[in-house]
Amino acid sequence: MQVIHTSADLKVALKAHNKVAFVPTMGNLHDGHLKLVDIAKQQADCVVVSIFVNPLQFDSNVDLDKYPRTLKIDCAKLETAGVTIVFAPDVSEIYPDFDGQKLNQTMTITPPYIASALCGTGRTGHFSGVATVITKLFNLVQPNVAIFGKKDFQQLVIIRELVKQFNFAIEIIAGDIVREESGLAMSSRNGYFTTQQKTQAAELNQALKAAIDVVKAAPAIFINIEKKAAEALTNQGWEVDYISIRSALTLMPARQDDEKLVILGAATLSNTRLIDNIEFCAKPLN
Ligand code: PAJ
Repeated sequence: MQVIHTSADLKVALKAHNKVAFVPTMGNLHDGHLKLVDIAKQQADCVVVSIFVNPLQFDSNVDLDKYPRTLKIDCAKLETAGVTIVFAPDVSEIYPDFDGQKLNQTMTITPPYIASALCGTGRTGHFSGVATVITKLFNLVQPNVAIFGKKDFQQLVIIRELVKQFNFAIEIIAGDIVREESGLAMSSRNGYFTTQQKTQAAELNQALKAAIDVVKAAPAIFINIEKKAAEALTNQGWEVDYISIRSALTLMPARQDDEKLVILGAATLSNTRLIDNIEFCAKPLN
C-alpha cells in the first residue's frame, strides 16, 4: 500500500492502473468505512482511499479542530483491508491558495435545492463544501467508480446529482449503513460517548423504526408521525433537529403516493449530534 500526500505523486502512482475504485473519507475509520473499501475491491484492482478533513464543509473552526485525526491507525486498517493507495493531502495541497487562514476557494459548486433542507438547514455552505471537495478529488483521482455510504443519505443524493449535472464519467455505488448490534449506525462521533450513552444512542434508530411501523400499519399524515417520533426522542433526553419522511429518490417531502421512502433523523444526545436513516417501501394508500 502506498501512502501519498501530494497530487503529483498521486498522478504518478495512478499511471500503473487501468481501473480505479475510490472511497473518499475524512479518516478516523471504522467498519462502516471499511465496508465501502470491500465494495471498492469488488469493482477494481486499484482501490484509492482519500483521508482529508475538508475545512470547506465545516461551519465552525471548533468542529474542524475537534475532528479526530488518526492517520497512522487508519493506514494500518487500510493496509489490512487491501487498499492500493491512501491519498492523505495537506489542506494546502487541495486548496493551493490557502494562506494559513483563508482557503481562498472562490469558485465553488452550488448544490441543488435539496442541500438547504435537513442537514443543510442553517448550514448553507456545508453541502457546497462537500460537492466542491468531491469535485476536486474526482479530478485528482479520476476514478471509474466511487463508493459512498447511505449513512449520509442526503450527501449521496447530492453527489449523484453532481455527477449527473457535471458529466463525470464515474459510477456511484452506495454502501448500506453498517450498524452496531444495538442498531446504532457506526460513526466517528460514537467515540465521544461513554458506554452508557452509546447504549442510549440506539434510541434514534429505534425511533425511526417505530415511525416506519406506524406508516405501514395505518394511513396517517406523515407530519404527525414525524412529530410523534420527535416528541418520543425529546422525552428521552434528545435535542431533535429533524425527523423527516421523504421520497428516497428525490428527498422531497414524501407524498402519500410515493412508494420508495426514506425516514431521516438528526438529533443530539449529550452534545453529540447523530444522524441516521432507513429506506422503506410504503404501499400507496387509497
Ligand atoms: P466521512 O464522514 O469520513 O465518511 C466517508 C464515507 O463513509 C461516506 O460516504 C459515509 O457515508 C460513509 N460512512 C460513514 N459511516 C458509515 C456507516 N456506518 N455505514 C456505511 N457508510 C458509512 O462523508 C464524508 O466523510 C465527507 O463528507 C466526504 C464525502 C469524504 C467529503 O469530505
